[in-house]
Amino acid sequence: MVKVITYGSYDLLHYGHTRLLERAKALGDYLIVGVTSDDYDKTRGKINLQQTLMERVEAVRATGIADEIIIEEYEGQKIDDIKKYDIDIFTVGSDWVGYFDYLNEYCKVVYLPRTEGISSSGIREKKRSLRLGLVGEAAFLNKIWNEAKAVNGIHIEALCTNNKQKMDTQVVNGIDLITSDLSELLDNVDAVYIRSLPNLHYQHIKQALYAGKHVLCESPVTLSRVQLEEILLLSEEKKLIMMEAIKTAYATAYTRLLLLIKAGKIGDVISVDSTCTSIREGGDGEWNNIHEWGPTALLPILQIMGTNYRNNQIAARFRNANQDAFTKISFTYEHGVASVKIGDRFKAEGDLIISGSKGYIYVPAPWWKTDYFEIRYENPVENKRYFYQLDGEGIRYELVAFARAIERGKLISDISKDVTFKISEIMEQFEDREGMIMI
Ligand code: CTP
Repeated sequence: MVKVITYGSYDLLHYGHTRLLERAKALGDYLIVGVTSDDYDKTRGKINLQQTLMERVEAVRATGIADEIIIEEYEGQKIDDIKKYDIDIFTVGSDWVGYFDYLNEYCKVVYLPRTEGISSSGIREKKRSLRLGLVGEAAFLNKIWNEAKAVNGIHIEALCTNNKQKMDTQVVNGIDLITSDLSELLDNVDAVYIRSLPNLHYQHIKQALYAGKHVLCESPVTLSRVQLEEILLLSEEKKLIMMEAIKTAYATAYTRLLLLIKAGKIGDVISVDSTCTSIREGGDGEWNNIHEWGPTALLPILQIMGTNYRNNQIAARFRNANQDAFTKISFTYEHGVASVKIGDRFKAEGDLIISGSKGYIYVPAPWWKTDYFEIRYENPVENKRYFYQLDGEGIRYELVAFARAIERGKLISDISKDVTFKISEIMEQFEDREGMIMI
């Protein structure tokens, strides 16, 4: 039996793909199709794919041409697969001529002529064209501008700011419309990314939704639960996407870590301790410590331990009447505990530790932009290290999730509504200084 293997991403499956699969199958008796899991296309420097891995696998399955479908997950896997499945022929389209010659050492390599006139990129470019506007005063907007370049079909058209000085020259030069008038920006875009001061979010989001624009807003979305309810209701009524932005939620290592916990790798979780600190005189300084770090530090706690804690206790040191410099929040759950330590003007080891009945997960500082973590056990021989490429601190995947939500008219966010609500509630509790211990 002659076994053939071919690989591809098969995004928005088109007849170029099916023709290739048919010819690949005709080269032998048994066809294995490897569907690529990685949606970052290094050669093009873009996140190219519009469909999820499962949708792409399903589309290939539906052609009925493949005898077996596998997922391509890591670089160098092709050699492993060829050996493992005892492959006779490796084949891909002629756009890859020469690129896979190194596989000749393991099996025969055949390049099949590519079908002219159709490609996933072409279809995608036609389908997605999102004009995004940036709103706010923070230097962080430079990162969003940079990361948007890595996402197919998102174009940053306008910037609304009162402080152009914070923006890099290339960003200022690269954006057509720079204004301090939000309504002018809204007239020229389909969606906005908001990173204004948190106490202005509510007003800015409402204005954007009333203008019929989708919203991606940096967390905390609002500083009260009632305001959040109102905004979410409004977005539903207007059939617009309103998504909370916390980049760490979209970092590959972090999302894998959550899956490993769900799969029971450390057993029953008893505690989560997360620390985030920085000393950034004059940075995006007007953000309070609690606003700057709170949502990120709270994320693993609310996602792993849940949002139904029994009680919590806030202890804070203020550097002036309104701004905290160091805050600790302790949580007690029915079956566990958690703590958040955040500091702006104080420094601590910014790690994340999740303890369980079988072992614990250690994510070294700065855990919120990590590409690496360890699962540690009583017997160190069993310890495991995990490494995942961190592209753009998670921002580009966050933008992709936002663009996908708009295309589908439905938010499938990595951050559940419960978590968004709880973050706003904790911010409100902080605003009210409710039960707070001053240190
Ligand atoms: N292919 C083909 N003819 C086309 C498009 C793709 O023969 N018109 C082949 C590719 O050479 C590859 C396989 O189909 O062997 C999967 O290609 P993939 O990269 O998933 O699709 P493209 O349409 O090439 O996607 P993109 O536009 O992102 O490159």
